[in-house]
Amino acid sequence: MKEKIKKAAQLINSANYPVAFTGAGISAESGVPTFRGPDGLWNKHDPQEAVSLSSFRNQPKKFWQFARDLIISSGASPNPGHRALARLEKQGKLKSIITQNIDMLHQEAGSEKVLEIHGSLQKVDCQDCSQVYLWQELTATLKKDKLPRCDNCGSLRLKPRIVFFGERLPEDILQKSWAEAKRADLMLVIGSSLEVYPAAGIPELTRQNSGKLIYLNADRGSRTQLFDLIITGKAGKVLPKIADRVIQK
Ligand code: OAD
Ligand code: ZN
Repeated sequence: MKEKIKKAAQLINSANYPVAFTGAGISAESGVPTFRGPDGLWNKHDPQEAVSLSSFRNQPKKFWQFARDLIISSGASPNPGHRALARLEKQGKLKSIITQNIDMLHQEAGSEKVLEIHGSLQKVDCQDCSQVYLWQELTATLKKDKLPRCDNCGSLRLKPRIVFFGERLPEDILQKSWAEAKRADLMLVIGSSLEVYPAAGIPELTRQNSGKLIYLNADRGSRTQLFDLIITGKAGKVLPKIADRVIQK
């Protein structure tokens, strides 16, 4: 492990344009549930019912049942993994973070250049009128075991600005992420199973442009051939050690 940490730090130090790509695993140590794996959200909820556009139109209650598990995401605090990435950015050793996460923990940790390709839980739009809510206003209702309704029109179709199945990813953010991935000569891929496209295609772009790829994840995953360096471990434990080494130099 020590050798791998040293190698990762060397790769970051010698890169001109290092970026990170993160998934649910980086927030696991903040208590946020991941999607796949034995304790994953997709073992408890059917994604097609919980977060698909068609289901949301007809049975928004299914989303709100799932959303109770998202309350944890919005109440969580950044962990040492998020903070290590923010430190690297401040030192000029990380140019941006492309994240699939909707929990805003990178920004809370102090990262500034964050591209949220699956949106975030900050704002919520009523689909039946133009009312906009803050996610935090609605979680108070959810915590009381009630379903949030629009004050203005009574609709249950209050949709957070996160990407649902059947919906396109935000075009401008996707374009920027592709540009970052192509420009990067090193990408740290952290805490993602890389099973969901188009997100999972982003590290492949860096690869196609001869950039190097590091995979830091709790398990080795199924894409081992893609990476120059694979570190199997917890992001909150390993990233601070890598950042310490990079910044020492
Ligand atoms: P997944 O749940 O698919 O994968 C999380 C990965 O993190 C797994 O490979 C775990 O082994 C790993 N992991 C768990 N704890 C970790 C830790 N402490 N440190 C490092 N790694 C850890 O989550 P994502 O890849 O983010 O999309 O999922 C991608 C997308 O699938 C999500 O953005 C979501 C979902 O459907 C939408 O909702 C649009
Ligand atoms: Zn409304």
